[in-house]
Amino acid sequence: MKEIVLVSGGAGYIGSHTAVELINAGYDVVVADNLSNSDMSGVEGVRKITGVDVPFVNVDCCDKEAFRKVFEQYNFSSIIHFAAYKAVGESVADPMKYYRNNLTSFMNVVDLMREFGRPNIVFSSSATVYGEADELPVTELTPRKPATSAYGNTKQMCEDILRDSVNAYEGLKGISLRYFNPIGAHPTALIGELPRGVPQNLVPFITQTAAGVRECLSVFGDDYPTPDGSCLRDYIDVVDLAKAHVVAITRMIEDKNKTKYEVFNIGTGNATSVLELVNSFERVNELKLNYKVAPRRPGDVVSIWADTTLANEELGWKAERPLDDTLQAAWAWEKNVRGIK
Ligand code: NAD
Ligand code: WQD
Repeated sequence: MKEIVLVSGGAGYIGSHTAVELINAGYDVVVADNLSNSDMSGVEGVRKITGVDVPFVNVDCCDKEAFRKVFEQYNFSSIIHFAAYKAVGESVADPMKYYRNNLTSFMNVVDLMREFGRPNIVFSSSATVYGEADELPVTELTPRKPATSAYGNTKQMCEDILRDSVNAYEGLKGISLRYFNPIGAHPTALIGELPRGVPQNLVPFITQTAAGVRECLSVFGDDYPTPDGSCLRDYIDVVDLAKAHVVAITRMIEDKNKTKYEVFNIGTGNATSVLELVNSFERVNELKLNYKVAPRRPGDVVSIWADTTLANEELGWKAERPLDDTLQAAWAWEKNVRGIK
């Protein structure tokens, strides 16, 4: 009998890539999503890539009675919980939308996993929990800073809910994965990031500018205290990130976790500036991007990148895909979406 993994939010960007890697690793997958920030194309892409007719349930994880039915129907041992809203700016403008969705859905996950005696929870956390860190690169022991957005606060609160719950309740185990900056797309170009409206993140804005959907990319600030004046980030390929979830789930299923609750940074360990990323995108895809330097974006941290020693040594996971390949995949996906040859 294959182990079943429930992927909540599995129609979305990272969830769909993770569903593919779980299937590649021999797991059965059930996707649960309310399509609030996605559509069925993600699930169809997963089915096409894997040749598996992955079951999909349209459910709001905040609706406990409806969500309970998924637990009744499928006997999964493990959940990877991606389902959340993720727009930082929107969360500042409408915090209750974020607290209601991200906290309620996660508390339902913990309650139902307990109720049904299902042990393993992987939570999608974020490097945003570190804020403007005092030491770089950040390790898992680097203190979290008070969150500057409701979104960031929900990530810190969910981490704490998971830690406290697995420590208190027999039979539960948890891993929080703190993603750095996920970018790119599947090499088949069948799944990728599909932002609604104007993209807030750098790479979708770059690919949409290259595709002519946006006129000009603004590089937010070139006067930061960094080598070229633009911000430094740790850009992690989405397929590498997806594989980190597979090893995290496997670790818990095989009972190899050292403590009931664990936290891992998931990044490359490399710092890349905005201008470097833009230049690499132009070079590997042999095109010119229309961009200009614009004022700093309020709320941006100057620099953050990961110390990935713990994930490398404990999970046996390491980012593998070169940034150039990731940027080619991002462009191939955008071209596919726009019907560009
Ligand atoms: P996404 O929006 O593409 O995927 C999230 C999915 O969850 C969507 O398909 C959405 O429809 C679904 N969803 C939201 N609320 C739901 C609910 N109440 N019930 C059921 N489904 C619901 O986002 P993503 O980029 O794939 O992010 C996945 C997770 O990773 C999120 O928790 C996000 O906060 C976290 N994360 C993302 C990034 C990033 O830069 N993309 C970085 C760090 C952490
Ligand atoms: C990267 C760099 C921008 C757009 C956000 C969330 C974080 C996490 C990942 C979820 C920054 C610059 C961007 C543009 C630019 N998400 N930029 N022009 O801000 O590092 O992280 O996504 O957990 O919580 O805050 O990512 O892609 O928005 O920005 O110059 O049009 O690109 O200033 O330096 P960020 P990003």
